[in-house]
Amino acid sequence: MTYILGIETSCDETAAAVVIDGTTIASNIIASQIDLHAQYGGVFPEAASRAHVEAIGLVVNEAIRDAGIDFSRINAIAVTRGPGLVGSLLVGINYAKGLALASGKPLLGINHLEGHVYSLWLTQPYREVRFPVVVLLVSGGHTELLLMRDHGDYERLGGTLDDAAGEAFDKVGRMLGLPFPGGPNIEQAAMHGNSAAYNFPRALRDDSYNFSFSGLKTAVMREAVVSSSIRRGEKGMQVRSDISVNDIAASFQLAAISVLAEKTARAANEHNATEILLAGGVSANQALRLAIRQSSELPVRYPPLNLCTDNGAMIAAAAFYRMQNGLKDDLFTLDAIPMWPLNNETYMG
Ligand code: KG4
Ligand code: ZN
Repeated sequence: MTYILGIETSCDETAAAVVIDGTTIASNIIASQIDLHAQYGGVFPEAASRAHVEAIGLVVNEAIRDAGIDFSRINAIAVTRGPGLVGSLLVGINYAKGLALASGKPLLGINHLEGHVYSLWLTQPYREVRFPVVVLLVSGGHTELLLMRDHGDYERLGGTLDDAAGEAFDKVGRMLGLPFPGGPNIEQAAMHGNSAAYNFPRALRDDSYNFSFSGLKTAVMREAVVSSSIRRGEKGMQVRSDISVNDIAASFQLAAISVLAEKTARAANEHNATEILLAGGVSANQALRLAIRQSSELPVRYPPLNLCTDNGAMIAAAAFYRMQNGLKDDLFTLDAIPMWPLNNETYMG
């Protein structure tokens, strides 16, 4: 059995996990910085790096202990190499390099987006996935539509031209005075609202597989926020008193997920996919899951809720398949890649 330690510090979670053979989670420890960043209404990069420095040793130790093994049992160390905040990435990378150097174990640098994809392989029923599949990867930093023909074989069909889907949820959440992060709070508010109350724009309903969320965000702002000076500001926005936050949240959510669902279903159909896979923080959204199930007759798979957002287990799982492809990285040249799209040309880093 292959035991891989996965370390993830690309954004605002310090996470480490031990995964056996790319599928079985032996431990999965996450130190979240949500409370730290809530005061800024978004992720504050410098504070994130410092918090990673404080937490990384404890989190990795806890992951090994919780797995009930000795560190010597670990076969390889995997770490997120990008995309992400460079100061945050470097904390995980340098810690992983230290461990690899001291122990002589192989080191693998993992694309965070590929990690999200492999969160789908971490649960029993989803182990047997028949290719090709279409993957909709929707997170705070990314919105990507991928055609996956095999392990490690990615064709990028399209993606967002401006804001990521999760970013739009977070920005609209802030406009509506909801706590950070906006995504889950908008979903909650939307459950009590009328999604037909506002007809927000469905952007880029075209032949491409691209998405756009900035116009939708501006449309919500026009409806919900009081004054133009507040429109420019990030903090202290004043929500109009004569609107229903729940109705705005529900109408925004419907507009955001409709185009995602439509284009994902069309891509799966056009490329003869056997299944649709959803991954990333926004894939926790039940309305999105439902919309995609309703748009396609294909099976739709998503990770369990605790594996939708950032974690170390998905990094270890991705590393397992990279190892199967005979890949590992050089300890001395492995560096952070803050901008790293996922496709066949960039697979090697
Ligand atoms: O994948 P993730 O943990 O981090 C990135 O790699 O970006 O995703 C975090 C994003 C945030 O924007 C958050 O608001 C969003 O996922 N999110 C949701 C939900 N849960 C988390 N968005 C919509 N509905 C949710 N239930
Ligand atoms: Zn992520």
